[in-house]
Order: sequence, then C-alpha cells, then structure tokens
Amino acid sequence: MDNKYILAFETSCDETSVSIVKNGYIEVATVVLSQIDIHAKFGGVVPETASRTHVENITIVIEEVLEKANMKIEEIDAIAVTYGPGLIGSLLIGLMAAKTLSFIYNKPLVPVHHIAGHIYANNLVKPLEFPLIALVVSGGHTELVFMKEDYSFEYIGGTVDDAVGEAYDKVARVLGLSYPGGPVIDKLAEVGEDTYDLPLPMDDTSFDFSFSGLKSAVINLNHNEKQRGNEINIANLASSFQNRVIEILVKKTMRALKKYDVNNLILGGGVSANRGLREKLTEICRENDINLTIPNLNYCTDNAAMIGAAGYYAYKMGRRFGDTIKAKPTDKLS
Ligand code: KG4
Ligand code: ZN
Repeated sequence: MDNKYILAFETSCDETSVSIVKNGYIEVATVVLSQIDIHAKFGGVVPETASRTHVENITIVIEEVLEKANMKIEEIDAIAVTYGPGLIGSLLIGLMAAKTLSFIYNKPLVPVHHIAGHIYANNLVKPLEFPLIALVVSGGHTELVFMKEDYSFEYIGGTVDDAVGEAYDKVARVLGLSYPGGPVIDKLAEVGEDTYDLPLPMDDTSFDFSFSGLKSAVINLNHNEKQRGNEINIANLASSFQNRVIEILVKKTMRALKKYDVNNLILGGGVSANRGLREKLTEICRENDINLTIPNLNYCTDNAAMIGAAGYYAYKMGRRFGDTIKAKPTDKLS
C-alpha cells in the first residue's frame, strides 16, 4: 500500500486531541488540548463541562494540527475517530467533527475503540510484534488483552470494579491531593516508604483485578488515624498503596505471559506513565527475557496519535462507520 495519512480524533474524556499519522507508525503532527486545569478545581472530570469545552476547542485544534503538519484535508486518506468507550457528550463532539469532515471531503470514516488506541500507542515506539499481551491501565480501564496479530483482541481479564487510575484519583482526593491523583501519588511514592499494612487486592488465580477494596483500605486507614489524632505520613501511604497496585498488576501480567506462552509485552493507558510501574516491569521483563514496549510519556495519557496509529489498521481492514454512526459509552474492545 502507498503512504496513507490518517486524520484522527480523540475526545472521549477531557482531552481535545487531533493528530495526523502516516502508515500507522509515524506521527506527522499532534495537538492535545488538555482540560485538566478546568476540572482540577472540582476534583475530577465534570462531563457537561468537558463536552462544552470540546465544542469550544475542536475547530481550533483541527486547524492547528493541519498547520503544524503543513497539510490540507484533501491530502488525507481517511478519518479515524474514537467512538467509545468514554463520556457520551465528549465522544459525540469528536464524532460529529469527524463525520462532518468525512462528509464534506468525501473521506472514509473509521471507528476506533479507545483501548485499541492505547494499545497502538506502542506502534509509535516500534512496530508491534506478535503474539503479545497488552496491559492497559487508565482512568477508565484495567485490562489484559492477548493479540495474535494486528487488530485481533482477546480479552483475558480486567477490573471487576474501579479502574486502577480511578483508584489513584479517588485515593488522592481523600488524602487532599490534587487532580489527577496518579502523577501526584507516583511522585510521593518515590520519596515515601512502604510502611502501611495494606491488602494485596484480588490475589487469586484469575486474570481479573479489583481496586475498590484497596482504595477503601486507604480511606479507612486515613479516617481511623485521624480519629485517633494520629498524623498520617502521606508519602509512606502513597508508597504502600502504589506498591500493592504494582505488585498485583505485575504478578497477573507475568502469569498471563506464561499461560499464553508469549514473550512480547506492551503497556498502555494513562497509568503506564507511572514511574514505579515502568521500573518494575522493565526489571522483571529483563530478568524473564520478555520484550517490553512502553509508550513515550506523551502517548500514555489520551491523545489522538494513538487513535491514528490504530485507525490505520482498522482502515486497512475495511472497518467503516455504517449509515448511522453512534457513540458507545461502554463498548467492548473489538
Ligand atoms: O488514559 P487516560 O489519559 O484516560 C483514560 O482513558 O482514562 O488516563 C488517565 C488516568 C488518570 O486516572 C490519572 O490519574 C492516571 O491516568 N495517571 C497516572 C499517572 N499519570 C496519569 N496514574 C499513576 N501514575 C502516573 N504517573
Ligand atoms: Zn485513555
């Protein structure tokens, strides 16, 4: 196939992002307009505000990315867009923008699942090698996925309650730390020590995860110590919480690699920016001869470059929106 340029949209949560990706692995230009500052004062994403802000930003972001790439929409081969999962109002803004451009410029419109995007963020580092296991850890997901070839996803396991990033954000909120909680807890964990006795969550033989019990354990401990008039060492609590999270993620991921007899591991999602998780996985993969790929930090959290990378493969496979295009806030990865 000749060179293919994908114009990609990602607006599933609180980042308005548009990107142009060439052949699924070369990022030509990306613009990410984060709304973190707007939502931080509320301690989390306010869905209505998120979709309104996407409306205000989307055309500016499209113009900026074309300018950055020095390209015209006429030169684009296809338009890819996150159709779900995510916040319905937010998803709709990206979808409507993508649909409008596809209609006006007569370009194919390709649906991309958000998790497929997080997985293909790794393709921007180096082409995926199969078979592989993907660990996707974000604010909305914690999933282990087996892939035997491009764009083939077999769900192995995932969280039965809170996503890991969600647990980070909630723990941070209770401890009076800023939003999003992940990066703040990660920094504190680096200076703290693992002194608090917290449970290792869902330490069983399944490939599922549960983070709400661990989250509650931190909240209860904080509450009880305060009631007793004892001071909490926040850095130590952050370190203890983070160590439990990393231990269970690493344990089940390594078991999945063994069970599926796979030696390629890729990481994705906002929590893959976590320093502790990156370090631990790097160390254990080195010891076990596993090829580990982790996205660069700017491709860990939501961005449209990852949608452009996944979108290229979805486009090649002939995936297209039918006559009716729908946002799917809770769709399964496929
Ligand atoms: O992938 P993402 O941008 O959005 C979703 O698809 O959910 O992930 C955002 C999540 C937030 O929960 C945030 O706290 C978490 O990723 N996160 C981190 C770190 N950086 C971002 N969690 C742990 N450690 C980090 N360094
Ligand atoms: Zn995400």
